[in-house]
Formats: sequence, C-alpha cells, structure tokens
Amino acid sequence: MNINTYLMSKVYIKQILEEARLDSEVVVRGWVRTKRQSKNVTFININDGTTIHNIQAVVEADAVSEDILARIHTGACLEVYGKLIASMGNQKVEVQVSKIVVLGEADPEKYPIQPKKHSFEFLREKAHLRPRTNTFGAIFRIRHALAFAIHKYFNDHGFFYLHTPIITGSDAEGAGEMFRVTTLDPVHPPKTEDGKVDYTQDFFGKETNLTVSGQLEGELGAMALSKIYTFGPTFRAENSNTSRHLAEFWMIEPEVAFNDLQDNMDLAEDFLQYLVKYALDNCADDLQFLDARFAEEEKQKPTQERSELGLLDKLKFVVENNFERLTYTAAVDILKNAKKKFQYPVDWGTDLQSEHERYLVEKHFKKPVILTDYPAHIKAFYMKQSEDGKTVRAMDVLFPGIGEIIGGSQREDDYEKLKNRALEVGIPEESIWWYLETRQFGSCPHAGFGLGFERLVLFVTGMGNIRDVIPFPRTPKNAEF
Ligand code: 4AD
Ligand code: MG
Repeated sequence: MNINTYLMSKVYIKQILEEARLDSEVVVRGWVRTKRQSKNVTFININDGTTIHNIQAVVEADAVSEDILARIHTGACLEVYGKLIASMGNQKVEVQVSKIVVLGEADPEKYPIQPKKHSFEFLREKAHLRPRTNTFGAIFRIRHALAFAIHKYFNDHGFFYLHTPIITGSDAEGAGEMFRVTTLDPVHPPKTEDGKVDYTQDFFGKETNLTVSGQLEGELGAMALSKIYTFGPTFRAENSNTSRHLAEFWMIEPEVAFNDLQDNMDLAEDFLQYLVKYALDNCADDLQFLDARFAEEEKQKPTQERSELGLLDKLKFVVENNFERLTYTAAVDILKNAKKKFQYPVDWGTDLQSEHERYLVEKHFKKPVILTDYPAHIKAFYMKQSEDGKTVRAMDVLFPGIGEIIGGSQREDDYEKLKNRALEVGIPEESIWWYLETRQFGSCPHAGFGLGFERLVLFVTGMGNIRDVIPFPRTPKNAEF
C-alpha cells in the first residue's frame, strides 16, 4: 500500500500505529479519551477500540476553529484529518491536525465515563458505555481472540461444529435449574381436568425450557461424526449470586467417540494450554495492560491473600506445566489432613466446595488439577459407572483463582445401566428416549466435557468477577441492557 491509499479506504488506529508511515495523510475516526489544552496547542487522545493504544491528535493554534474545539470532550466521536508526524510521546507517530468533524458530541456534565478510575460496580451499571474503557476494550478483544482460537483448535483437529438446540424438552444435567419457554397466557393458562397447566396446548405441545447444556444432542453427533463440539449459550436458573456464576453463559462442549476418561483428560489439558498460549501469542498488548492492572489490584490485598504470580507469569505457568491428576478419593484424603480449617467439612461422598478446590490448586499442588472418579450420587446420570459400584468416570479441571473450569466424563454406554440410573434420579424416559436409543443402536465408548467460556476469559484476563468478562451479564434480578 503506498502512502496516500490511506485516504482511499477506511483505516483504523491499530494499523496506523503499527505501520507508522510518516508524512502520510490520514483520517482517524474514534472516541475522545482525553483532551488537554494549552495556550498554543491542543492534544486530543483518540481510541477506536481496534487496539488498547490511543493515537494523539495535535491541534496547533488556528488549525481548527475555537467553536469546534469547544465541542470536543471526553466521549465525543470525531473524524480527524491530518498528517502523520514523528511523536515524542508513547507512540511513534501522531496526527498533525488540519480539520476535525465532530460526529457526535458528549456532554461533559452528563457523560459518565471520565478519564479517572471508576469502580467495576459502577461500570456494570454503564454496561452500554464500558467497552470504551481500556480495561473492557482489552477484555472484549481477548474474549474474541479466545472464541476464534476455540474454533481454530477444533477445526485443526478434525472436529465438526454441531449446532445443538437452545430450546429443549429435557434437563441434561438433571439439576432442575431451567428457564421455562412458553407462549401460554401467564394469567389464564389452559388447564387439564386435574387443574394442572395443560402444556399440550403450548407452542411445542409439551413443556420446554432453555438448554442447560448441549451435551445430550452433542453425543448423538459424536456417535455419527466421531468428533464434534458445540459452542453456544447455556442457561441456568440457579440462584447463585457469586463471582463465578451467570444465568446465561457460553459453553464449549467437545464429544468424542472411542475416547475414554484418560483421552478426555489429555484433550482437556491440551485444549486449555493451547487457548492460553493463543492469547499470550496474539493479545500481547492487551495482556500487558491487564498484567499491570492485576499487579495494582493485588497490591491492595493483604499480603497472605496476594497471588504469588503476576497475570502473565500465571498464564505462562499453565502453558508450561502438566496438570496434576488424582482421584476424588485421594483429594479428600489431602483435604482431611490439611491444616487449614474449612468452612464446609469434607468427607468422602460430599461435594467439594470452591474453598476445597482452591486449596488443592492454590495451596497444595500450586498448579491446575484434574480430579477424577467422583462418587456417583453427586454427579449427573449419564456418567460411566465404575466397577467399584460407587464412583463414576467423571473429571473436573480446577484452575487457580477460578475453581472448576471444566466438568466432563466418559459416558455410560450400556443401555440398561443408563436407563436405570436415569430412572433412579427421576428423569422421565419419554424426555430422553432418543438419547437412550443410541445405546441400543451401535453404542460405543465415548467421552466429552464442558468448558465454561466466561470462566476461561476470567482466568486469562485476571479479572475478579464473571460479570466483567461478558458484555451484558445476566444474573439474578439483573437483565438490563
Ligand atoms: O460441570 P457442568 O455443569 O457440566 C455440564 O454441563 C456437562 N454437560 C458438560 C459436558 O460434559 N459436556 O458445566 C460445565 C462448565 C463448568 O465447569 C463451568 O466452567 C461452566 O460450565 N459453568 C458455568 N459458568 C458460568 N456460570 C454458571 N452458572 C455455570 N455453570 C457451569
Ligand atoms: Mg460441574
């Protein structure tokens, strides 16, 4: 591209700063981050979200009318014409301005995002504008890069992207935490003779809900295409107001025919390391910014609560070290012998709480951990039953600062065992007859897992609250925007 082609097509700040082509004429479009005015010159920092870096526009006296300059404040959107010249500032180049068009003003009395530190709680209330801050710009660019890397990984490894339904008639996890989907009149729904809501008259002729997982349908795909994955929105009506739970989140669920639990762990570990490495290799500027933010945040904490590693060190550590693998039973032994006093007691058969998971990862092993072979009664009905009659071939991957990031298992492939287990936990056969039938026609060993996308983004960005890594979070009592 030669110098003046900048004017032929739209060009974005990332490219202008990277190419740093002195003396070329440019048009920069973006939002004002700061404006600094002295007697003879005005400096305007502009960002268009293509990079964490701003470009500086330098307006010499008389280059632009006073009227126009007076309309420029933080948050305004500008179209700036000028020439790229060498800069003394943070960037190699800056724009020597010849003309400015104000595309959209932002009243400084009203615009809420000012060039100062805002709390994340405050910015959650301004979710429509928070992408214009450095931190959220970085997070959403990294979120994109990770989503892209997920598709790339699976495509490169011969997986097929399978679109599983969002509206379903079954409860894949059997946890009963579903949002109902209905078109019936909420005030006067049709009733059956015994006074219950008559769902045969509903849109789908039955009770339906938003999916809690694409796994069951994913398994149908794997038992035909061998290697599939899903990547879609998932809904859970659990009333967990924690920094790790959303009511609407995105989940990635690979499912592989002929894989056993061992293969499943190998896939999960390779996949996670690939994704973290992809971010390190492709999001360096944004991660550097978040690394500094993370260090600043850690300084505010009491010494014993501080992370031993910085953000970038933590990411590199995960890429370079094998995950620790042990059984649930071995983990319970470690926890029972731990000096630390837990809020919730641990005993074989109890579900592990996040304090236990984090103790194992952050204090005991100091690396990611894969726990396997959990007691059957605390896990979902579809997991493969072991010969001991007590445990199932389950695996959870636990990450520092996060706790559970992946949950998965080898699947029960024996028709009778699967049907009986579903009955035991109260899942009606008519809601999953098609799932059971795959165990009658060409059943095979297979395994898969679910990665919570926001928990991955949380880990990679070093943020503390899951509400801050999805553009518009859905949590109890909160569906604004
Ligand atoms: O462990 P979960 O419930 O497993 C499943 O849904 C299986 N069907 C997956 C499979 O084997 N195909 O959820 C999987 C992951 C969790 O490890 C966690 O990372 C994330 O999904 N997750 C949530 N993320 C945000 N908010 C919530 N409410 C979440 N619930 C689960
Ligand atoms: Mg789980």
